[in-house]
Amino acid sequence: MKAEKPEVNLMEPLLAEKNLRREWLRFAGTASAGAILFLLTGKTKELYGQSLQGDVGILTAALYLEHEAVAAYQAGAESKLLSPGVFKVAVAFQSDHKYHRDGISGVLKSLGVEPKGPEKKYDFGHLRSEKDILRLARDRENGAVLAYGTLASNILTKAVLNFGANVLVDEVRHRTVLNAAIGVPNY
Ligand SMILES: [Fe+2]
Repeated sequence: MKAEKPEVNLMEPLLAEKNLRREWLRFAGTASAGAILFLLTGKTKELYGQSLQGDVGILTAALYLEHEAVAAYQAGAESKLLSPGVFKVAVAFQSDHKYHRDGISGVLKSLGVEPKGPEKKYDFGHLRSEKDILRLARDRENGAVLAYGTLASNILTKAVLNFGANVLVDEVRHRTVLNAAIGVPNY
C-alpha cells in the first residue's frame, strides 16, 4: 500500500473523531433502551443482575458498527477502484469484522437476546477513488476504536470484556494501517 501525504486540514481527523463519538453514544443509548426492555421482562436479569443490562446495550451498539464496517468494506471491494494490494487488505479487514459480528451475535444469543441484522442500505456517499474508500474505511475504524474503548471501560461482565478487548486490538491495527495509507500520523 502506498502512503500519501495528507491533503486535508489536520483538524479533520479530530473533528471526525468527535462526530463519530457522538454517533456511537447515540447508538449505544438507543440499543440500551431495547436491551433493558428485554432484560426487565426476561429471566436473564434474575441470573445476572443489573450489570448485564448495560453490557447487552453496548454489545448491540457494537454489533451495529460491525454490520456497518462489513458493508463499508463490501462497498469498497465492489467499487472496482481498489488496487490489488489494497483490495487484499480490505478483504482481510472485512473478514475480521465478520468475525467480530458473529462473535457479538453469539454472545447476545447466549444471553437470550436476538441480535439485530444489518440495515437494508448504507449511504457511504459517492466513492470516486481508492483514496475515498480508504478514508471511508479509516473513519469507520476510528469510530470502532472509540466505541470499543468506551465499551472496555464500561463493560461489567468478564467474558464480554475479554471479547471486547480482543476486538479493540484488531480495530487499532486496522486504523493504524489505514492511517498510514492515507498519510494521517499514527503518533
Ligand atoms: Fe476494524
